[in-house]
Amino acid sequence: MMLGTINHIAIVVPDIALAAQEWGARTGAPVSEPQTLPEHGVTVVFVDVPGNRIELLEAYGEGSPIAKFLERNPDGGMHHICFDVEDLEAMRDKMIAEGARVLGDGTPKIGAHGKPVLFFHPKDFSGTLIELEQI
Ligand code: CO
Repeated sequence: MMLGTINHIAIVVPDIALAAQEWGARTGAPVSEPQTLPEHGVTVVFVDVPGNRIELLEAYGEGSPIAKFLERNPDGGMHHICFDVEDLEAMRDKMIAEGARVLGDGTPKIGAHGKPVLFFHPKDFSGTLIELEQI
């Protein structure tokens, strides 16, 4: 039971059009058009990195899950790291057994890429929110 590759690194931004422009111009990496995911409360832009991607997230709508983070980090900041896992529930159980706290009730939910995901408490991972995504 182990982590797979990093699926994405998510960065919360206050202004996604500006962030997309800056990332594209300054890194030369391909940047997607913004996609709004109302059911997840975010608008996302993908920055392509070979074998990987960075997701820029802007809050969308009332009660966005990133609204509080943006209040505490008005200039934006790194929000979470997502790892692929082959067996999400087995990995969840291992991490809980080793003292990590899963967010919510521990039942995988369908994430922004249409696959089951879980999040783990930042306090149990050196201050970093961890997302696991079923391959
Ligand atoms: Co994510």
